[in-house]
This record gives sequence, C-alpha cells and structure tokens, in this order.
Amino acid sequence: MIQPIILCGGKGSRLWPLSRELYPKQYIDFGTGKTLFQQTVQRAGSIPQVLPPLVVCNAEHRFFVAEQLRQMGVSGDIVLEPVGRNTAPAVTVGALMRKEEDPLLLVMPADHLLSGDVFQRVLPAAVELANDGYLVTFGITPERPETGYGYLERGESLRSGYRVLQFAEKPSADVAERFVTSGRHFWNSGIFLFRASAYLEELGTHAPEMLAACGQALQQSTTDLDFIRLDEHAFAGCPEDSIDYALMEKTSRCAMVVLEDAGWSDLGSWGALYSVGNKDGQGNVCRGDVLLEDVQNSYVHAESRLVAVVGLKGIAVVETSDAVLIADMDRVQDVKIIANTLTREA
Ligand code: GDD
Ligand code: MG
Repeated sequence: MIQPIILCGGKGSRLWPLSRELYPKQYIDFGTGKTLFQQTVQRAGSIPQVLPPLVVCNAEHRFFVAEQLRQMGVSGDIVLEPVGRNTAPAVTVGALMRKEEDPLLLVMPADHLLSGDVFQRVLPAAVELANDGYLVTFGITPERPETGYGYLERGESLRSGYRVLQFAEKPSADVAERFVTSGRHFWNSGIFLFRASAYLEELGTHAPEMLAACGQALQQSTTDLDFIRLDEHAFAGCPEDSIDYALMEKTSRCAMVVLEDAGWSDLGSWGALYSVGNKDGQGNVCRGDVLLEDVQNSYVHAESRLVAVVGLKGIAVVETSDAVLIADMDRVQDVKIIANTLTREA
C-alpha cells in the first residue's frame, strides 16, 4: 500500500501579495477550478492501492485544509504543526504515525503543477526501487540554471531508474550552470517515495535529535475535532531543516526515476506563473480586469480593480485590495524579501 503524505505548510512568500502567511499559495485557485492543494489530493487519489492522504500543515491553515478536502469528498488524517519546522520534521511525523504498518510513503509537496498521467506511469518503477530499500526521488530534465531547486546527479542504472551519486540542494549560480550543461543532472521535483522504516533508519543516523523531538511531539499530541495537534513545546524544540538538507544530501541510499515530459512546474514565483500561463500575441499573461497598451512579455493580475499598463516590457504587476506589486520579471525571486520584511514588521 502507498501512503501519501501531503506537505502544505509552506508560506509561499514569493507569490506575495496574493499569497499571504495566513492564506498561502497552495490554498489558492490560480484559475483552474482547483487549488494546488486540491490538485495534489486528486493526484494522490488517482494512484492504485492508495491509502487516504495524511496531510501535514500549519495549525493556522487547518480550516482551509478541512474545507478543501470536504469539497472533494476526501477524508484523511490532518496533522497540525504549531510552528513551521520545514519539511524534514513534517515527513518524520508522518513516518512515525505509520511506523507499525510500514507502508511506502509518497511525499507530495502541494506547491507545483504536474500535467497528465506521467506520474502514474513512472510510479511502478519507483515502487520497485523503494521496495529494494532506496529513498526514491523523481528527476526532471533541467531547463535553466535555477538555484531554487535541488539537483540529482545520475549514476549507474538500477532497475528502471538510477542510483543518485550526489544530491545538491539549492546550488550557487555557477554550480547550477555546470549541472545544467553536464547532461547527468536532473532537478529534484520534491516528490519522494520510500518505505517508512527506510526513512526512519536513515533519519536516526543523520538527524537523531530531529527523530527524538518528532517522536515526543507526536506522543504528546492531542486530538481536536478531526485534527491531530502536535505538542507545541516538543515540536518547537525540534531542529528546523528540509528533507533535502537533513537527509537526501547525506544518505547513500538515494535513487531516481525520471519524470519525462511531466509538464512540471514549481509555481514558486510570478515568473513561473507567467511561464505556464496562456500568452496573448504580445507575450502577456493577464488575469482579471486588465487594460494594456504597448506592453510585452508581462504578467498582469488584477484582483479588485481595473489595472492599466502602458509602454512596459518584462514586468509583473499584481494588484489585490490592500497591496500592489510591481516588479521587473528578472527580479521576481526577490519578492520574498518584501514579504519577509512585512512579516518582521507585523
Ligand atoms: N507541513 C509542512 N511544514 N510543509 C512545509 C513546510 C513545513 O514547515 N515547509 C514547506 N512545506 C511544504 C511547502 O508547502 C511545499 O509544498 C513543500 O513543503 C516544499 O517546500 P518548499 O519550501 O516549497 O521547498 P523548495 O521549493 O524550496 O524546495 C523543494 O522543492 C523543490 C522543487 O519544487 C526541494 O525538495 C528542492 O530540492 C526541489 O527542487
Ligand atoms: Mg517549493
């Protein structure tokens, strides 16, 4: 059996001002009729022999999660983190909850797009490797020297996949450039498959304090309505780290299957939303009430008012009822700086 663990506790700060700490991007419908979280739940549900999802989210977002699951007629465990400790503790709590049954855990981030059924097609190959004890990643052929992703270096063939020689999380621009031209490196999609026991063994070796703190937070957790609330004190004491740094860069049991033509996109920034959007004849992507004159290659998004732009190229404009963002498209990664400044000042 496969147990999906849906990770949706991120802040999505690069999609400010639409994505807010209290209402982050995974719970927003960007125009497809389903939020990114709901698309992930749907993807999980379409896998054969799958268990109901185990959702790990921030306690503040519990009603979004419950309501969006209800809309889809899906039930599952919802684990609430009193504070964010990044992805490794979230996965660890899920793995500990299923320790007895020891299923294959499918870790699914709730912040990206994946089109068609490519994921279902490649899953059997990943299951074989996970059954052999590997921690399996899903690689994407890189398109550009993106520094916000992890990179997987392909080694020898293992069944229908590969051994991963090196897992390098968020490299510098120079290193990313070298990786993209090597022909041997893939982007890490952020999806993982492994046996719960294999993950817990590796974590015990590489991050024993995290394992102990998560065990304590779970042991002292309380159930409140349909939610499992981790103990605040114990979880706050847990080291903060991502699964990528805490484990995947360190383990020697990493393998990979390739997600070919997956239509994969991490909707991490306005630039990413621009690239997946439908362009008009001038290369613009518009949402809402927008009027353009002599504007090219821009993303213009109006939520609550008419937005008009004249004579600009390569910009992102995002209007909401209480904030407006205007950014050079080449600098949209830095929107995070603004969002973080606002969080500090709040
Ligand atoms: N429950 C929970 N708690 N979920 C979290 C937390 C947390 O503290 N922090 C982040 N998440 C969720 C996010 O909502 C997202 O769905 C997923 O976990 C991944 O976290 P990100 O913060 O978006 O990671 P990233 O994009 O910087 O990097 C990861 O994904 C890339 C691909 O998109 C890494 O796995 C990279 O290696 C990978 O290339
Ligand atoms: Mg991400």
